[in-house]
Amino acid sequence: MTEISSSFIQILANANNVVVLTGAGVSAESGIKTFRDPDGLWARFNPAELASPKGFMSNPELVWEWYQHRREIVHESKPNPGHYAIAELETLVPYFTLITQNVDRLHQQAGSKIVYELHGNIIENHCFRCGKPYIGEVAFADKTLPKCPECGGKIRPSVVWFGEMLPEDAIRESEKATNHCDVFFSVGTSTEVYPAASLPYHAKKMGAYVVEINPNDTSFSSQANLKIKEPSGQAMPEIIRLLKEYKKGNQ
Ligand code: OAD
Repeated sequence: MTEISSSFIQILANANNVVVLTGAGVSAESGIKTFRDPDGLWARFNPAELASPKGFMSNPELVWEWYQHRREIVHESKPNPGHYAIAELETLVPYFTLITQNVDRLHQQAGSKIVYELHGNIIENHCFRCGKPYIGEVAFADKTLPKCPECGGKIRPSVVWFGEMLPEDAIRESEKATNHCDVFFSVGTSTEVYPAASLPYHAKKMGAYVVEINPNDTSFSSQANLKIKEPSGQAMPEIIRLLKEYKKGNQ
């Protein structure tokens, strides 16, 4: 088990602004597969086929079916101790920002209030042609691709695909918070997909103390001020426990 130093807990306790960036690894302990681990989704499926506008245009039924399957898995999953600890951290520091690349909404289920979803979400849908939200009921078992009641266009999941723009307000607020934070957590992300991957580097450049929580090394690891090589479901609750203990002792 990685030692979580008292000097780090002291830095966290004195921080005014804390930012947490999460990736698929945070939901791994909820039973949702990551993308780039050896058993990850991109080892078995082709992102160009299933996660791009071009892929959707060439085979919309296949893409729809794949997301129907994934949202069924998400629907059956529950937040894990890592999600709950991140939600609790929000209540323990003066200013807190949660940025996620995850589309599963488990942070919100765990109680996180404001979550900037850089890659959208898998729960909602909208029209591929006119962009209007699709509010019709979508049963998991129904593999038929719905049509937009407004324009007849094909309905797609509201996730951000490769080659698409990130939601403007989410990336703007994420960059703003990163600019001003004292402590930045990069949790469960391979830091491979930009622009999200640029945030820990930017935080470091701006003088923040950057912590990476990931059982494996990433391209960012060597730059982190602290690397905790553990699953987030273990490391995050331990950090919360130590932070509360520290605060109690210093009241
Ligand atoms: P990746 O699959 O690229 O990386 C997941 C990271 O989580 C890896 O570095 C693992 O080592 C780590 N990990 C695994 N289990 C963990 C655990 N229990 N606790 C902590 N870390 C753990 O996922 P992301 O970095 O989120 O985008 O990928 C970024 C984007 O690539 C995704 O949002 C998705 C994908 O293509 C789109 O679909 C647009």
